[in-house]
Amino acid sequence: MTSEQTTDVDALPAEAQGTDQQPSSRTEIPKSAAFTRYIASGWADRPAPVPPVSPMAQAAVARRAAISAKRPGERLVVAAGAQKVRSNDTDYPYRPHSAFAWLTGWGDETVAGSVLVLDPVEGGHEATLYFQPAAGRDTDEFYADSAVGEFWVGRRPSVDEVGAALGLHAADVADLRTGDADVTLEDEGLARDLSELRLVKDAAEVDQLRGAVAATKQGFDDVIAAMPRITAHDRGERVIEGVFFTRARSEGSDLGYGTIAASGPHACILHWTRNDGPVVPGDLVLIDAGVELPSLYTADITRTLPVTGTFSPVQRRIYEAVLEAADAAFAVAKPGARFRDLHVAAMDVIAEKVAGWGLPLLPAEALEGVERPDRRYMVHGTSHHLGLDVHDCAEARRELYMDGVLEPGMVFTIEPGLYFQPDDLTVPEEFRGIGVRIEDDVLVTADGCENLSAAIPRTPDDVEAWIARQRS
Ligand code: GLY
Ligand code: MN
Ligand code: MN
Repeated sequence: MTSEQTTDVDALPAEAQGTDQQPSSRTEIPKSAAFTRYIASGWADRPAPVPPVSPMAQAAVARRAAISAKRPGERLVVAAGAQKVRSNDTDYPYRPHSAFAWLTGWGDETVAGSVLVLDPVEGGHEATLYFQPAAGRDTDEFYADSAVGEFWVGRRPSVDEVGAALGLHAADVADLRTGDADVTLEDEGLARDLSELRLVKDAAEVDQLRGAVAATKQGFDDVIAAMPRITAHDRGERVIEGVFFTRARSEGSDLGYGTIAASGPHACILHWTRNDGPVVPGDLVLIDAGVELPSLYTADITRTLPVTGTFSPVQRRIYEAVLEAADAAFAVAKPGARFRDLHVAAMDVIAEKVAGWGLPLLPAEALEGVERPDRRYMVHGTSHHLGLDVHDCAEARRELYMDGVLEPGMVFTIEPGLYFQPDDLTVPEEFRGIGVRIEDDVLVTADGCENLSAAIPRTPDDVEAWIARQRS
């Protein structure tokens, strides 16, 4: 297959064979009127199905009203973004901007290059979704355009179909007019407002996150069941990545981020996505992975598993310290608490444990106004918001994010860890090369929080029992 149209003209009716040689080293595109008539004819009508408006699209009505109320009188232009080239003639899988997905409810079926426009009108805004609809068979696009042609990338929906599926006024992107006064996502204020509106999830979003977590649990189950195959391979980490991805695809879904499959000392490398190492019995393997549903909501879960199925005493000691830190963060996760309290609670435990092991940390009373003592054995934060983006709401202001007050409907991770680098001379030799993170996805409720990933075992005993079960 080449990226431009190539036709075996000898197979065409004689009158259609007048070709127009293109100035290209590898293609020839017939241009004659006879060919155009020939290829445009003989196609059956396809009745357009009229799908019901999806729950995500229904929920997007209130979201548009919320941004409309914040930006009265402004023309808001929210682009889904263009398809990106990976390398010659190959593109990255398309994913629309999360702000666009949130405001439309259009997920992984979004047509690349779509744009939502909110035009100011009396009392609010009027929404129009511009996109490139299917081209008619009377154009050469459907057979000759490798970027968007139906023969090449599949059928695109019509204006009516998209309008019906999303409950929105839809229009051809060719009719989109932009102006200097438009406010776009490049505008810091609009990106910030949308990020901040996304901090509290609506019921449809929470449903999606529950689904993403459930699919992710299945992925972890699959990885454990495949452990004999994983340890037998000299790049077992990559097999873990593949097994998890297979589950995501088997669910009709994708990944929210590159899987981290980090065995032994690789677990101390926080964003280890090269995943080219072996998975060695006796080590721990840290797996940080999340299924992203077609709605584009993702889970973000980490489990650290003993490869043999049983923690060694030192592995268990470190694991239990991290678990205690996580539980301390869970204990403060309730409406009225500050987001930053989660990290403080977890780090107090980490600091206490590390000090108890005789490792060099500042004592808690010396910490006021200075960096917490987490920058050697745990260099990352304890929590981040989660939703359409794995690191969701990133444009929100500090006073609403790090210093923000927790509200029912917020979803974030709790993910403390301890990482003892293999060459860290400040720790006992038996600690070196051990990295543990436990990451759960948490919903703030009216009076506390719910661990959305509670069904994925997290205590050492439950993890060992889980592995035994999956392997039997
Ligand atoms: N998977 C990235 C993170 O845990 O933040
Ligand atoms: Mn995370
Ligand atoms: Mn993670």
